[in-house]
Amino acid sequence: MNTFFETNIQKKLREYVKNNFYHASHMQITPDQAHYICSILNNNKCKNILEIGTLYGYSALSFAINSPNDAKITCIEKDKSSLKVAEKFWSEANISHKIKIINGDAMNILNNIDEKYDLIFIDADKKNYINYFEKSLPLLEKNGLLVFDNVLWKGLVAQKSNNDRVTIEIRKFNEYIRKDKRIKTEIVSIGDGLAICKKILKS
Ligand SMILES: C[S@@+](CC[C@H](N)C(=O)[O-])C[C@H]1O[C@@H](n2cnc3c(N)ncnc32)[C@H](O)[C@@H]1O
Repeated sequence: MNTFFETNIQKKLREYVKNNFYHASHMQITPDQAHYICSILNNNKCKNILEIGTLYGYSALSFAINSPNDAKITCIEKDKSSLKVAEKFWSEANISHKIKIINGDAMNILNNIDEKYDLIFIDADKKNYINYFEKSLPLLEKNGLLVFDNVLWKGLVAQKSNNDRVTIEIRKFNEYIRKDKRIKTEIVSIGDGLAICKKILKS
């Protein structure tokens, strides 16, 4: 794993998770994924970001420290206890003012959001990726982007002999977005694979 691009506070949170919640440390985006998504945020001047699946706050921390002071990152997370850890590190990094937490089930919460976002990062339960895609697409600004993590699923999506439940769900999702004419998708092989979906503008 390339840790070159990490700040001290990102490194500290990642170490903390590894030491205290080892089972969950692989669930966080990798430093090079964080770096890549932050380049997208900067290149596209994204200021209003929605994250679905926050865990201990590593991805949101990475986005916040690399965004302008008036950026806003709304984090949807169902697990209250992991958010406590996230809040501690966000406060230490002095970026809490950029973050809004919504604690609950994203599948319900997304039905009641009427705001538009420059970028929506989706990193929650894989079985709902198609649902998150359909619920998030209308919430994008004109030039907005959807970014999904884990679309290569450790390479298992390409192994025809592997047919475990999550691999099948992710394959189904990848095929769904590949065929969808409302978006243009790139799959980037960084970390566990990112899908970057850009809304196609009607002329
Ligand atoms: C892969 S982790 C997120 C990692 C985080 N984005 C990072 O890189 O640091 C997935 C998170 O999604 C949350 N989650 C799963 N299903 C959810 C749902 N339906 N609503 C809200 N959060 C959900 C889990 O509790 C877990 O914390």
